[in-house]
Amino acid sequence: MPTLTIDNQTVEAPDGATILEAAQAAGIHIPTMCYLKGFAPSTSCMVCVVRVEGVKSLVPACGAMAMDQMHVTTDSDEIRAARQAAIELLLSDHLGDCIGPCQMGCPAGMNIPLMLRHIAAGDDRAAIEVIKREIPLPAILGRICPAPCEKVCRRAKIDQAVSICRLKRFAADIDLDSGEPFMPVERSNKSKTVAIIGAGPCGLSAAYYLACEGIACVVYDEHARPGGAVRYGPIDRKVLPIDVVERETGQLLKHNMTFQPQQRIGKDVAFDTLCRDFDAVLVAAGDPMLYDRNEFALDVKDDHIRVNRQTYATSRKGVFAAGGAIGSRQWAVRAVADGKEAARSIAAYLEGKPLVSKKPFNSRMGALSQEEHKALLTTANAEPRHEPDEPTAGLNNADARAEARRCLHCDCRKAENCRLRDLASELNARQNQWAGQRKTMRIDFGRDCVVYESGKCIQCGLCIQTARKADETTGLAFVGRGFAMRIGVPFEKTLSEAIARAGAECVANCPTGALAFDDPPQDTENQKQDTGNESFRQ
Ligand code: SF4
Ligand code: SF4
Ligand code: SF4
Ligand code: FES
Repeated sequence: MPTLTIDNQTVEAPDGATILEAAQAAGIHIPTMCYLKGFAPSTSCMVCVVRVEGVKSLVPACGAMAMDQMHVTTDSDEIRAARQAAIELLLSDHLGDCIGPCQMGCPAGMNIPLMLRHIAAGDDRAAIEVIKREIPLPAILGRICPAPCEKVCRRAKIDQAVSICRLKRFAADIDLDSGEPFMPVERSNKSKTVAIIGAGPCGLSAAYYLACEGIACVVYDEHARPGGAVRYGPIDRKVLPIDVVERETGQLLKHNMTFQPQQRIGKDVAFDTLCRDFDAVLVAAGDPMLYDRNEFALDVKDDHIRVNRQTYATSRKGVFAAGGAIGSRQWAVRAVADGKEAARSIAAYLEGKPLVSKKPFNSRMGALSQEEHKALLTTANAEPRHEPDEPTAGLNNADARAEARRCLHCDCRKAENCRLRDLASELNARQNQWAGQRKTMRIDFGRDCVVYESGKCIQCGLCIQTARKADETTGLAFVGRGFAMRIGVPFEKTLSEAIARAGAECVANCPTGALAFDDPPQDTENQKQDTGNESFRQ
């Protein structure tokens, strides 16, 4: 039984153990990517490198044996830099978007592709749940949003952008008309209260997300009804009827909040009173006339309150500001996004927690070639964009389902469960650090919704080993050479035949989105079949 030191800790390793196994047994974390317990190490990613005293270069801990008298260091600037470089090399030719361009382009960061898949599948309740995670007023925004998401929708490069905004409106209208609109589960009451100044999109959004966190709000507004600019602003009422504003804001007020109409802060209620009586105050009104520096005692510049752009905290403890209060907000969606982010910051402040604001790593494919567009289009409805009969009308049921199926599914099927993405986030890896030759994009569909995307494969070989362990008759193999090497199926078989038994295990063991599950089959003519794709065969 070899005895070695790992990070100055004496460790007794079982005979035949690797450095990684010895470290794990001693509770010492070494990041891994291509390694999986019970499988032969391929030592292909070099993310697990460590320094062994007396050895010139760093060694992969998953493949090197633990030896008696060894001195191992698992963490240092040099090691972290090497791990970061290893991930950056894998990313240099990686062909995938972790999240879709549309979601990146949405100021509220809504998971648009997921909403579209739910609408395509006819699951409108799931669609509204996805929407309301980020946008609490979708029937209103679905009528007036300038849809920056559609400007960056990849489908526009093929024909026309997916009608994202109208589909959001479609799901929101169904929900509002349902008689039982979606109510999120609110966390248990935290006995904290927040005063919100302004019942426009920003203030209402903040109140909604604070209510979800179990924090009660009192929303003050100088007007008689909630809605702010979307109710009282110069908006064409054929585009946004008052009835929609009334119903959607009314639904929102059913959450844990109280609306205080016709209250001008500084005149009817003193600002200091709010600061004294509430655990936090959010200034969400866009009217700069409200911001009398003397009354509010806040730092102001050019008629706008100055805040920390990460936390929305003002110069005064416990006072936050967002939306039109901190800058010009031409788009209601931007105000809604501000309100949501400010609410999350206030909730963290009230719980005495730091605001975790580090964004996860996002791989980007950038502009695609015609061939790549063609590959993506195989997964979607090829019809042109569906338009309503009247420009201000919504989509009918059949058109909405068909329109949602036009989405190319640019987002990754494993975005929430990808070791490459997690490690890229953890190690602050940059995608364009090394110039890599672009991989070929192939998308192959197999049995039981298994999808293989060659552009996301890191050639770790875990799927090949998994199929072999499951005694698959055909199994998988590396095909091609050098840069063109990829996973393929021998003997002119299909993906379904290759991993008939081990499909789910291959998906689970694949560390990236290269092997993933597609969405469940939809009850449509557009079901994806086993492609039997010639390109997949050896
Ligand atoms: S495989 Fe991972 S890194 Fe690549 S696009 Fe998918 S989630 Fe992002
Ligand atoms: S095609 Fe779909 S996933 Fe891609 S950008 Fe457009 S809406 Fe988003
Ligand atoms: S498809 Fe196979 S070889 Fe490629 S990353 Fe996934 S498990 Fe590894
Ligand atoms: S080389 Fe060890 S985890 Fe990849």
